[in-house]
Amino acid sequence: MERENFGSKIGAILAAAGSAVGLGNVWRFPIETGENGGAAFIIIYVLCILLLGLPIMISEFLIGRYTHANTAGAFRIVSNGSPWKWVGRMGVFTGWFIMCYYVVVGGWTMHYTFLSVTNAFYEVPASRYEDIFNHFVANPWAPTLWLFLFIGIIHFVITRGVQSGIEKSAKLMMPTLFAITIFLAICSVTLPGASQGIEFLLRPDWSKVDSTTILEAMGQAFYSLSLAMGCLCTYASYFDKQTPLAKSALNVSVIDTLIAILAGFIIFPSVFNIGMNPNDVGVGAGLTFISLPNVFQQALGDGSFLAVVFSTAFYFLLFVAALTSAISLHEVATAYVTEEFKMSRKKGATIVTLTVLVLGALCSLSFGPLSGVKLFDRNIFSLFDDLSGRILLPLGGMLISIFAGWVLDRKLYRDELSNGGDMKTPYFKLLVFSLRYIAPLAIALVFLDQIGVFAFLK
Ligand code: TRP
Repeated sequence: MERENFGSKIGAILAAAGSAVGLGNVWRFPIETGENGGAAFIIIYVLCILLLGLPIMISEFLIGRYTHANTAGAFRIVSNGSPWKWVGRMGVFTGWFIMCYYVVVGGWTMHYTFLSVTNAFYEVPASRYEDIFNHFVANPWAPTLWLFLFIGIIHFVITRGVQSGIEKSAKLMMPTLFAITIFLAICSVTLPGASQGIEFLLRPDWSKVDSTTILEAMGQAFYSLSLAMGCLCTYASYFDKQTPLAKSALNVSVIDTLIAILAGFIIFPSVFNIGMNPNDVGVGAGLTFISLPNVFQQALGDGSFLAVVFSTAFYFLLFVAALTSAISLHEVATAYVTEEFKMSRKKGATIVTLTVLVLGALCSLSFGPLSGVKLFDRNIFSLFDDLSGRILLPLGGMLISIFAGWVLDRKLYRDELSNGGDMKTPYFKLLVFSLRYIAPLAIALVFLDQIGVFAFLK
């Protein structure tokens, strides 16, 4: 079967950036930055990206492009039949798990876009937003319908293939996402009192930096760059041989980090504008679906045209960001099913979609009718979230860096990285050093932290 490639370098970079830029950039990074020392946190975060993120991203790109295969196939090829082949399979399943809860939130962003555009937040008292959200997610129907719609869009894009599906949609959605982000950031920083918000976000405060900060920065860098489970490996399997791997990885990281910082420029000026304490806004779903709708109404004028435009643009931005990431997650699984079980793309994608419909619905319903179903004290949604984010991702990242640093043939690595000697690779030694020592050790610490070992020791 003929395997497709991305049609252009810019298309390839936009698709990979689409995977990276997601909910994590908006609902985690800004608040983490503000609470962990502002610019000090950003500096640490950027160091994590340079020292840990880039080497692993480059390795994933390299393995994907070298093998031109889905992640499980790719690791089977480069592992020469050793047990390292399991790293690829593990990645595919990690992505599958992430996808199942990620699409649920994707559905929520659609619902909140709809609420914003219909001015449904007009005259809602601040205390009611929590109820509105809790009511919505507990309802057996509405979230499930939005979820199905969200998955339907992903399915549509994926079945159209690499070039006319993934690449074309990335070329359309990523510029849209940049434009909306910049528009919202400009609106927000011109609000009265915005400077306090910017100060909260950027003022370096090294006294807030401790070992936990560094662990958080590392964890966030991994999640945000979509590392450690084969997303980027799968996309890179559609790169052509001329694509510069290190430069593309750098581009993707820069885009991802810029959007994350701009998200902070969107959120905090409005928070300070209404005199809210940034420590009370929460993180994740609480921030995005409970605090922010209220913040936007109050900062821009309850029910005003501006509030409608701003709020709609914000949730649409989240929707686009979640969609491009979810598409990349779906592609990991689709490429796997299609190639490993030798079937058409349509059939492979349909199988993946059906599983996500079922498992996604279970995650979604775990806020309502299935809220009693618990394992390890977690509902189904949190189980998927924690299993993938806390355990499988760090484990995958660690294994990939060890594999790339210690097992993968050095000469092959260098050849691929330099595109067969066409490009200089002055950073090669540092890259290998990081893959061998820094990354595995650092990720091991993140892992121990995520599963609660350090908290337990304290
Ligand atoms: N990077 C995305 C975000 O910031 C989420 C994501 C997509 C992801 N694919 C991934 C995270 C793969 C880890 C691994 O929201």
